[in-house]
Amino acid sequence: MYSRKNQRDLTRTEKKRLVDAILEVKRSGRYDEFVDLHRRYYVTDAETGPRPAHMTPSFFPWHRRYLLEFEQALRAVDSRVSIPYWDWTRDNTTGASLWAEDFLGGTGRPGDRQVMTGPFAYRQGNWRLRAGVTDDPFLRRNLGRPSAPLELPSAADVERALKDPVYDTAPWNSTSATGFRNRVEGWALRNRATANHNTVHNWIGGSMAGAASPDDPAFWLHHAFIDLLWDRWQKAHPRSRYLPARALPADDPQRGRVYPLDQPMPPWDVAPSQLMEHSGIYRYV
Ligand code: CU
Ligand code: CU
Repeated sequence: MYSRKNQRDLTRTEKKRLVDAILEVKRSGRYDEFVDLHRRYYVTDAETGPRPAHMTPSFFPWHRRYLLEFEQALRAVDSRVSIPYWDWTRDNTTGASLWAEDFLGGTGRPGDRQVMTGPFAYRQGNWRLRAGVTDDPFLRRNLGRPSAPLELPSAADVERALKDPVYDTAPWNSTSATGFRNRVEGWALRNRATANHNTVHNWIGGSMAGAASPDDPAFWLHHAFIDLLWDRWQKAHPRSRYLPARALPADDPQRGRVYPLDQPMPPWDVAPSQLMEHSGIYRYV
């Protein structure tokens, strides 16, 4: 059992250990495999086929497992390291220590949005993005989107999402208008209506705004907080359960596309029911 800490509480040494472990996973080639995996499972509901990761009830359990896999890769490099969480309701400015030179580095420069500071700046030589078809090899950010300013979700937005006692609702996709899952994932409810996970991706912008978002190490800190919010929701609603609880009826257009409680998810063949708890592995402090 280990702890996941608030990133604002990390010491200089802890930040350095985390950065060094991330750079080593990158150097070994495994980091890019994680990015590829996320790309592969970025299936939208405009496409056909199963959606284990996004626009789907299993958004929380799929990402929980995904983070665990990455965390294991980090801990194989340095067992003192874990994924910290970024509470973006508190550390909600471009001046937060998260974006400092000694941690994730700052925003991108005007024009190409290339990140120029910190350990993940391309010019430091350790962070080359695996090229897509048109993608640049450097990490890009556009913190706060100055041309059309965005705000990160507030504590009140988070509270509003946590109040919904229903885990998810039909049609179990990006258009689900209520339910904790989409109030957090954030497709149907725009403009900071809730604890909108998508808004956070867009607030960082650049590499974080697309299917290859784990190219930005901020991804892991953001998703650790999303994972923590799932805990909070479970504690707030002890009688609520993951939905759908069982396979959808044969005439439901989402049948076979979303993952009910006991249906194993790729690529790990693990069902949401096996990811409801993480006690015994890690805890949030
Ligand atoms: Cu994702
Ligand atoms: Cu995300």
